[in-house]
Amino acid sequence: METEIQLLCCSAHDIRSLAKASVDLIVTSPPYPMIVMWDEVFSNQDERIRAHLAAGEGHDAFDLMHKLLDKTWAECDRVLKPGGIVCINIGDATRTIDGDFQLYSNHSRILRAFLDREYAALPDILWRKQTNAPNKFMGSGMLPVGAYVTYEHEYVLVLRKARRRQFRNESEKTLRRQSAFFWEERNIWFSDVWYDIKGTPQNLVNKSARDRSAAFPFELAYRLISMFSIKKDVVLDPFVGTGTTLAAALTAGRSAVGVEVDRSLVGVAWDLLASVPEFANHYTRARLIRHMQFAAERTQEGKPLKYINRHYQFPVMTLQETELLISDVVEFMPAGTDTLRVEHADVPQADMVGVWDRPPSQTRSVEKRCKKIDLQMPLRKTGVEQCQLELDIQKKEE
Ligand SMILES: C[S@@+](CC[C@H](N)C(=O)[O-])C[C@H]1O[C@@H](n2cnc3c(N)ncnc32)[C@H](O)[C@@H]1O
Repeated sequence: METEIQLLCCSAHDIRSLAKASVDLIVTSPPYPMIVMWDEVFSNQDERIRAHLAAGEGHDAFDLMHKLLDKTWAECDRVLKPGGIVCINIGDATRTIDGDFQLYSNHSRILRAFLDREYAALPDILWRKQTNAPNKFMGSGMLPVGAYVTYEHEYVLVLRKARRRQFRNESEKTLRRQSAFFWEERNIWFSDVWYDIKGTPQNLVNKSARDRSAAFPFELAYRLISMFSIKKDVVLDPFVGTGTTLAAALTAGRSAVGVEVDRSLVGVAWDLLASVPEFANHYTRARLIRHMQFAAERTQEGKPLKYINRHYQFPVMTLQETELLISDVVEFMPAGTDTLRVEHADVPQADMVGVWDRPPSQTRSVEKRCKKIDLQMPLRKTGVEQCQLELDIQKKEE
């Protein structure tokens, strides 16, 4: 199976190189209006925002910031297929402007923008990001009425364009069955509050780039992609930052397009992609092993799983999981200056077939290896490095 990963360095206000109705899923996290770290990014795109902030006119600044995001939502709407899903990770902002503390509700403003386009709102996800900071409570301390509730969550808005997607032809139906997730994953992924994804830094890219882009965790993107698309689908992230969504799409066997206006982050994203294929294969094995451990535990408890997955020969809970196949990335190579072509195996990993009932120590070692893997580890001369090289040459020529 072949997929493509494309990384465009331009503003998401205008992505005319992407055709109308060419994308199956959008997973993104925009710059957050009224969060100080994004003031400059917004003000550089509309000078009036800087003036409003300086004059203490918070609501006017908030309004203009969202008008900028609306331009990207219009492009998203143009390129998304009917039945396609949009997942937007967004946090609300709390801020004191001109001595007045207020909440700026980004999630409700973005939800409104999509409802105005007649999207269907689906149940959203609260991503719980607990902070242990000693000064996390704001306002008048132990005295009413000027103390404020601390925000420790972000939203993942889930929206659908038009009616539910239909899978009509046989090849799509097969890919959909292969893209199934495990029953025990479903029980966590489709819960409305995600406690288990930490917002803390991870190994993906260097810390300064991560801080500058406020990267979201790999697991967040991987989960959303697995929940709302099938293999070979096209995933778009119009605010791709360090490229987390592209890494997750590559791992999940989806094609993807990322758009980023900051050229220095585009370089960071290419570096990340160079490390992903090896990481992807370990990550996938860890997922399979977790399932094998689940199956072994249930069996030991006298509650064996009823069905057998035909690729891996391990037991699964439901008939829908019997064709699930999470295969390896076998090759990736540049295809032009901004695209990677990725080849995925069509067969299961040989070392994962028929091993579910072996002693856990044998499988645990693979999980350990997976945890240890360093995504910044330089690989041999890769296709991505070649892409990066070509991008650098292009930059020099401009
Ligand atoms: C919250 S960050 C996204 C982080 C990303 N999810 C990651 O994991 O690295 C938002 C990104 O949008 C980019 N951005 C802001 N305005 C943009 C625009 N008009 N077009 C494209 N990218 C933009 C910023 O440079 C930033 O990298």
